[in-house]
Amino acid sequence: MTRFACLASGSGTILASIIKYQIPLKVVIADKPCPALMIAADAGIPTTIISRNHYGYRAGIGEAWDRAGFTKIVAQTLLDFKIDVAAMAGFFTILDPIIFELFTGFVLNIHPALLPNFKGEHAVRDALAAGVKETGSTVHIATELLDDERFIVDQVRVPVEEGDTVETLWERIKVEERQFYPRVLQKIQTSQINLRTIQEGS
Ligand code: GRF
Repeated sequence: MTRFACLASGSGTILASIIKYQIPLKVVIADKPCPALMIAADAGIPTTIISRNHYGYRAGIGEAWDRAGFTKIVAQTLLDFKIDVAAMAGFFTILDPIIFELFTGFVLNIHPALLPNFKGEHAVRDALAAGVKETGSTVHIATELLDDERFIVDQVRVPVEEGDTVETLWERIKVEERQFYPRVLQKIQTSQINLRTIQEGS
């Protein structure tokens, strides 16, 4: 049985849908107090806050904080809970590459664009600015590269509509993501998706 963790920082609506689909989450990790933690706690899932501020993080500080130290504790938590797959769902901290040495399970990310298009934190805004007719969401295996498109697990397409704002378009994407991400995790659980095969590129 695959042991899942979820990493979240924000409103946790995707996390809530993962819980609704009964994906067996062993722990939810947040990088600050946030609604996602309440959602997990209400569902009886163990939670932990690993605060970036304890590692010297302040807004606008750039790289002058201990990202590796923060990441080591994330990795240790995943190991403590014997996690196989850590699913990031709106986790706002970029993990240090040391995670891939310390934690040998898979880290998944969901990105609100059709990778390789529109990488980075402004994916929805950038898609809108580019005038594309269609965008979407990608679940991929995280690597040391930001929004790495080499190991795409699955994608869902979402139309851009006339008069869309970042808010309306992102919400339409999230409506899809709330079914799409849990279904991907279900397929991993039932071996319909094999992450190792995707990672090996075959
Ligand atoms: C999602 O759009 C996901 O693609 C992105 O962060 C958002 C999380 O939404 N990585 P929420 O906090 O679960 O509502």
